[in-house]
Amino acid sequence: MKLLEGKTALITGASRGIGRSIAIRFAQEGCNIAFTDLAQDENMDSAVAALQQYGVNARGYASNAASFEEAHAVVETVMADFGRIDVLVNNAGITRDGLMMRMSEQQWDAVINVNLKSAFNFIHAVTPVMMRQRSGSIINMSSVVGVSGNAGQANYSASKAGMIGIAKSIAKELGSRGIRANAVAPGFIITEMTNQLSDEVKKAWADTIPLKRGGTPDDVANVCLFLASDLSSYVTGQTIQVCGGMNM
Ligand code: NAI
Repeated sequence: MKLLEGKTALITGASRGIGRSIAIRFAQEGCNIAFTDLAQDENMDSAVAALQQYGVNARGYASNAASFEEAHAVVETVMADFGRIDVLVNNAGITRDGLMMRMSEQQWDAVINVNLKSAFNFIHAVTPVMMRQRSGSIINMSSVVGVSGNAGQANYSASKAGMIGIAKSIAKELGSRGIRANAVAPGFIITEMTNQLSDEVKKAWADTIPLKRGGTPDDVANVCLFLASDLSSYVTGQTIQVCGGMNM
């Protein structure tokens, strides 16, 4: 029996990167996949094709996760298309780094809206569905810097600390309804977001990591699989850091 057979997951920002790896990992375990990203482009089409290879139902929806209205519209459409939502992964995220003294209001607002408000939008829309089903697993993509802080990333760290706060609050509110909520906090993961860094910076990062390498999107996807499935049936309100021991 596959771990997510017959279930449906909704994943935000999954045309590429970590979100796409989570979608593929879930599909390998029999999960139908609904995912969002900003545009219906080549990335989205190729993600749908890659997911369908595992024999599951897969669809991409163009939508801005930061928009309350669009998030609710997506959830309504996913319910019409799939009939249920068992797992929600709030993965969409951006960086707009800068030291506090120089950070613009736009940099602050963009990161808080895409990384944090998006989670409120989707949890708000999906909670009634999961309450009716009397089960569900919500996974918020945080970051080690949401736990430790990081110079030059006050906006990003605040958004990622917020993802942990929402997960804990939802875990307390909805545990009695069979709904679990957890956060995953990746460290230095090699994706397009981090690939822009110079080799020097990447090596400096790796040197600080006990496992001496950057993580892969699959390293993160495997932890999400654990949290999405019944393997974690007694785990809620937790933050799992996937960082090669970088943050302890
Ligand atoms: P990425 O940039 O490769 O992928 C992010 C995806 O989200 C893209 O497909 C992008 O189009 C989409 N997206 C951006 N804004 C959106 C919006 N408003 N609505 C819908 N979709 C939107 O980034 P990556 O590395 O895959 O990151 C995924 C998540 O993991 C993010 O939340 C990020 O903060 C988090 N993370 C990443 C780490 C890393 O080292 N790469 C470390 C810790 C956390």
